[in-house]
Amino acid sequence: MHITHKKKIVLGVTGGIAAYKAAELLRLLIKAGAEVRVVMTPAACEFVQPLTFQALSGHRVYIDIFDAEAESAMDHIELARWADLMVVAPASADFIAKMRQGYGDNLLLTLCLAEKKSIAIAPAMNQQMYANSATQENLTALAERGTLIWGPDAGEQACGDVGLGRMLEAEALLQLINTHFQPGKLTGRQVLITAGPTREAIDPVRYISNHSSGKMGYALAQAATQAGANVTLVSGPVNLAPPSGVERVSVNSAVEMCDAVMDRVSDADIFIACAAVADYRVAQQSEQKIKKTSDQMQLSLIRNPDIVSIVTALDNPPFTLGFAAETENVEKYAADKLSRKKLDMIAANQVGNPETGFGTDSNEVLLLWEDGKQILPLASKPEIARQLIDILADRYVKIN
Ligand code: C5P
Repeated sequence: MHITHKKKIVLGVTGGIAAYKAAELLRLLIKAGAEVRVVMTPAACEFVQPLTFQALSGHRVYIDIFDAEAESAMDHIELARWADLMVVAPASADFIAKMRQGYGDNLLLTLCLAEKKSIAIAPAMNQQMYANSATQENLTALAERGTLIWGPDAGEQACGDVGLGRMLEAEALLQLINTHFQPGKLTGRQVLITAGPTREAIDPVRYISNHSSGKMGYALAQAATQAGANVTLVSGPVNLAPPSGVERVSVNSAVEMCDAVMDRVSDADIFIACAAVADYRVAQQSEQKIKKTSDQMQLSLIRNPDIVSIVTALDNPPFTLGFAAETENVEKYAADKLSRKKLDMIAANQVGNPETGFGTDSNEVLLLWEDGKQILPLASKPEIARQLIDILADRYVKIN
């Protein structure tokens, strides 16, 4: 039986010349046994008649946000709950921008806001529009939030341009939908992840911290969830929303992070220490705001617990991946850390480079384990996270 058989899919169609390819995707999905409801934006109706989708799906097409008849059949919240997956194909640049901002001025956008399960979008637009930094930033933000970005493809475009921006072909999208429904490599596994910086209070208004944005740890949480794991994310203070389906435990200091990890680690099959934990904390926090009475002041610092080393020293430790952010001799320092901290794997990257490491959207990682290594070349953090989780899952299965 086909993997998408009986899967409930909302197919969203936005206004673009590639809208005709959505009809082919719908035909393939129906042939594979999926149950599909089609939602079109008003602009999509300028390109393809709703009747085409109605005839292919055997159901009415949802278009108007204020359509009382459609709402009484299955209102938009119910439609979002009904779907196992929402696929927006084609997703225009305008739709992507609105989705990123959380607009709800057409039915499809309100569905995206209400959808709790997975949303995949297949971008389709002119290559200049795709390359525009506004579109790129919108796609990065959506990927960080957990949206699956499928494509685009490169090639000749309807406008005569050649480049990246064509929507993936219907067969390729069907393949991705199948893969999405395949049980992930980490199905049923408990994954505990630390992410972000820690804040070590000096007094009630000041703290010591670092530049970690949490983006890599959050991308890993999302990738592990997509691989089927149950993920708990112990996070320092960051400006990111937790990926859907992830349980987040918010902490401030290293000691709080350590406590939160130790409370949960016995349930974990896999531990990923991605947080940039402050090495030291202030020995004596002041209860009152410290006044600037002298020209110099000294803070006495004491070592924080090394969370990952405490975890790997347990009697029955989970499979553990650590990180090493280095400014030089990356491989040597990472290899030292792998053995010193008794890690199963380490992901090392060079910080201080404008394209990788703290606060950036992309990363390049050298992955080391006892008897192997692999370089993950420069890519977006969600893409690096996907590759990393894939390799980690294979190593985990091999060892266990
Ligand atoms: O020793 P260093 O800080 O470079 O080690 C980095 C690795 O150790 C990362 O995986 C980080 O999350 C973890 N770590 C930790 N607790 C600390 C310091 C680092 O878990 N106090």
